[in-house]
Amino acid sequence: MNAAVLGVIGGSGVYDLPGLEDVREERIASPWGEPSDALRIGRIGETRVVFLPRHGRGHRLSPSGIDYRANIDVLKRAGVTDLVSLSACGSFRNELHPGLFVLVDQFVDRTHGRDASFFGNGCVAHVSLAHPVGPGLQRRIMAAAEAEEILVHRGGTYVCMEGPQFSSLAESKFYKAQGFDVIGMTNMPEAKLAREAEITYATIAMVTDFDCWHPGHDAVDVASVIAVARANADRAARLVARLARDFPAEREDCPVGSHRALDGAIMTGAEH
Ligand code: ADE
Repeated sequence: MNAAVLGVIGGSGVYDLPGLEDVREERIASPWGEPSDALRIGRIGETRVVFLPRHGRGHRLSPSGIDYRANIDVLKRAGVTDLVSLSACGSFRNELHPGLFVLVDQFVDRTHGRDASFFGNGCVAHVSLAHPVGPGLQRRIMAAAEAEEILVHRGGTYVCMEGPQFSSLAESKFYKAQGFDVIGMTNMPEAKLAREAEITYATIAMVTDFDCWHPGHDAVDVASVIAVARANADRAARLVARLARDFPAEREDCPVGSHRALDGAIMTGAEH
């Protein structure tokens, strides 16, 4: 049996997972570097759950300073099969207002200088990232939201910027004109690495602001992000708790192949 283990990465404002029971903290070493924090390993209902605060407790790590490879590696070593990323984001659409949770299904990577692959010279691999989010996991999040009467919007494109500065007005208007829906600083390369690790990935993008394009709203600042993220934290915890309680005991095959992403992806040594 391939037991399902639900991983949860908490973003800004989410440094703990209320509802996690029988918790033990474990520091797992990674050859890739230093993970953001110790893992908090426990259960919700019958489901094993592993929590990692992306920025570390006390929010010590900048988006550019997070070791995304070490984070995904230790989650994999802890047995995580399905990973939910909780992430604060700015919005480019009026209807995606602060407080709303957006279940994005696409990413555009505008980051640079981050280690974005477990592969390279010596072992060359190219996984598919056409569909970076697991639709089955996303459907389960949707069902959990319905059960908890939490409003979510399904679908959208998350553009990941490098930061740490927020966008200029010209950049914000550009992203909006491109048709991107939300913006954040952390989901890339996280989603890419999860796929390489054959972990099914989905993001709950929690809108905290309208970035700086909206004539009717002040430009985003840290105070507004924190205020909305704090107000969101309870709902996020309820959503994750319901998701975990209703999670299947065995890992489900991912319709877009996350569970076997490396099948046929490795070039090195393959016969050509
Ligand atoms: N995280 C929350 N709001 C953001 C924004 N407007 N831009 C980038 N990252 C964010």
